[in-house]
Amino acid sequence: MQTKPNREEISATYGWYRQMRETQPVFFDQNVQGWHLFRYEDVARVLSDHATFSSDESNFLPPEYRNATPISSSLLRMDPPRHRKLRNLVSQAFTPRMVAHMEERITEITNGLLDQVQTAGEMDVIRDLAYPLPVTVIAELLGIPAERREEFKQWSDALVSGDEGTTEEARLAVIQAVKQATDSMSAYFTEVFEERRVHPHNDLVSALLAAQVDGERLSNEDLIGFCVLLLVAGNETTTNLLGNAILCLDEHPEAVQRLRANRDLVPSALEEALRYYSPVKLTVRGTTAETSIGDQRIEAGKLLFVWIASANRDEAQFPDADQFMIEREPNRHLGFGRGIHFCLGAPLARLEAKIALNAMLDRLPGSWHVSDAPLSLINSSSVFGVKTLPLIWGK
Ligand code: HEM
Repeated sequence: MQTKPNREEISATYGWYRQMRETQPVFFDQNVQGWHLFRYEDVARVLSDHATFSSDESNFLPPEYRNATPISSSLLRMDPPRHRKLRNLVSQAFTPRMVAHMEERITEITNGLLDQVQTAGEMDVIRDLAYPLPVTVIAELLGIPAERREEFKQWSDALVSGDEGTTEEARLAVIQAVKQATDSMSAYFTEVFEERRVHPHNDLVSALLAAQVDGERLSNEDLIGFCVLLLVAGNETTTNLLGNAILCLDEHPEAVQRLRANRDLVPSALEEALRYYSPVKLTVRGTTAETSIGDQRIEAGKLLFVWIASANRDEAQFPDADQFMIEREPNRHLGFGRGIHFCLGAPLARLEAKIALNAMLDRLPGSWHVSDAPLSLINSSSVFGVKTLPLIWGK
């Protein structure tokens, strides 16, 4: 495989991961006062041992460094026993069965989006499909009426741009926008909950309102937090799974031909894309007790940067780790995490990506070619993907 010139930034990032795995796999960074972990074994262990490695930011971040988004007080950033209780509650509503029921609707939305570009012979995969598909699906799951979708998209954009501020001024503007979006969403969802309590529908919000563990229901605050988490955790990540899968296929055109010939390979090709260009590249944890990782002693209360994207390229776990192999088996990648925080939306993300990739294979004939113009990466510390992805086909 030859790296295109515009992929230099990407290959430099993966080169850095490799170098760190080989030379300083457990590395203390003075600048951020935290430990970086690069090896599969260490990353998998940290994600699996929630007693030693906490997700609750108040255990390892001083208040001024805590991110003021609803995510910081969500399920994702909780430890047991609160995490277990909340996860049990929301799992009653957000089930794989409910997701499977969405198949027909996801196919309809996907085809509607491809109808708008098919005859043009070119599209921007992000703008025209990978971005609108998950945002529309989650809006429908949450029962947001079509006339409020635009507003809803603006709130969602404001929340996901949360870690893009570089200058102090930009950072303050982002904080302000996040606060406004959070307030508007809270007001909106409170209205919806009130309405659904009186008139339950057959939808996710009504199921969340009805869910009970030990006779206890979700509080209004937890309900809002979960709806916002679904929106943020589910959108940009799924957009990037599809975008990154197309990037992988552009670098390996023979794989497109093999997928056309055998559609049964689509799910394993998507798993390989999750490994090869992981949409969530980084997550964080904090130590609750003194521990050792590799040959380093780490004190209690320390911040850990857990590099999922690096773990997923570790040769010790994946033979020929830098090869994109659509039939890779086994493929125990960490793209959806591991342990108690394993991605709740994985069945939905897998279904959306499978339907979208199959529809592209059906409707965009011939070979696919991503523009040679430079690709710009999303400016995020935790998510990996491109902002635009111009694709032409049929040539
Ligand atoms: C390809 C797309 C996706 C990727 C790569 C992804 C990745 C992840 C990862 C790595 C985690 C664990 C983070 C950690 O342990 O710190 C996670 C958790 C989570 N994800 Fe996803 N996700 C995706 C799509 C979705 C979707 C579509 C939804 C819902 C609509 C969703 C909802 C969640 C939730 C609620 C959690 C928190 C679970 C918990 O803390 O118990 N994700 N995701």
